[in-house]
Amino acid sequence: MLSKENNELLTRIGPGTPMGAVMRRYWIPVAFSASVDTPDGPPVRVRMLGENLVLFRDTSGRIGLLDEYCPHRTASMFFGRNEECGLRCVYHGWKFDVEGKCVDMPSEPPTSRFREKVRITAYPTHEAGGLVWAYMGAPELKPEFPELEWTLIPDSHRYVTRHIQECNWLQGFEGGFDTSHLSFLHAGAVDNRFKVVPGHYELVPQPLGFVAGTGRDLEDGGTFWTAAAMLAPFHKLIPSDPIAAHVWAPIDDENTMLYSIDFNPERPLTEDDLRRSKTFNGIHTENMPGTDRAIQNKDNDYLIDRALQASGRSFTGMKGLGVQDCAIQESMGPIADRTKEHLGVSDTAIIRLRRQLMQLVKDQIDGVTVTPPPGSAYRLRPTRFTARPGESFADLFEDKMRAG
Ligand code: FES
Ligand SMILES: [Fe+2]
Repeated sequence: MLSKENNELLTRIGPGTPMGAVMRRYWIPVAFSASVDTPDGPPVRVRMLGENLVLFRDTSGRIGLLDEYCPHRTASMFFGRNEECGLRCVYHGWKFDVEGKCVDMPSEPPTSRFREKVRITAYPTHEAGGLVWAYMGAPELKPEFPELEWTLIPDSHRYVTRHIQECNWLQGFEGGFDTSHLSFLHAGAVDNRFKVVPGHYELVPQPLGFVAGTGRDLEDGGTFWTAAAMLAPFHKLIPSDPIAAHVWAPIDDENTMLYSIDFNPERPLTEDDLRRSKTFNGIHTENMPGTDRAIQNKDNDYLIDRALQASGRSFTGMKGLGVQDCAIQESMGPIADRTKEHLGVSDTAIIRLRRQLMQLVKDQIDGVTVTPPPGSAYRLRPTRFTARPGESFADLFEDKMRAG
């Protein structure tokens, strides 16, 4: 359980909030690169950390991520013209480049120098892993780009989808480390590749979060370990086949863009891999065409099939692990009231995750600059391995989880 005050501190990420400031110290995915694949193509709306923004690719292929509202009279730049290396507001023609500089102000006299004084908020971007990422913090503190393995491999090795979770980001992130739900919520799912094995559970703190090992005893006295990772403030790496990852990118306090990734670091995904990913029994959802909203959503009770639930073939009667997670996390309300919960031993990872995030928030409040580690610290591969009798998880995981 959390106090009301700490629940607020951890969940609220808008401008001016402590957690919002922490989030703004990290690179955040904001869109698929493909959504702005054409130079001078139509701009795309982005909402991230409670800010409305506009994304576009200029004539020379550079990406711009600007405040949605024109600094003249606050018209939406979404309706702007993307032309000749800048986005031009259609209200009075002011034009801005990808760095936020005003490069044309045709409504003012030609002799005016007003143009030089006006800027629009522009955030640096980086393309990796088929996505556009943004850094929304103080420019002088921009960290290295995180070298997540799934962003470093060829496109053919990776499958990425996204969908909106209609709840606070922390609900989703915590759900990713709710270890005991696997054998309940997801048990009976058609393709249950995450089926949990009862046994040991180990958490090893890392500079960025923690590594979590789930161990099963073997007959020879050894242990079979499954090693996942939490990388602050919103990444999860999941040992499965293919390997999987999530990013819970906060749209605002009550909505989250969940990116779901399947990847194989060694080779292109096969037809069979893709078929499994695209049948939506795994972490992905099938969305309404042209949107990021799942077809199974809270307005239709996620298409729960009570007969299927009663049959015992599915615990929930909802099809798809991703949908099951989404349903249950949204069911807690837009921002879960953590003053009312009762956490047990099975919630150890959630408690640890909160403690680590709370430390970042406290540092922020105390004026300590939250500093993400170097990009190479993100090079971790979730995996499975066998430990011989006498070998501990903590001894082995570093070697086993080293990514290319
Ligand atoms: S409101 Fe954009 S140019 Fe006037
Ligand atoms: Fe789950």
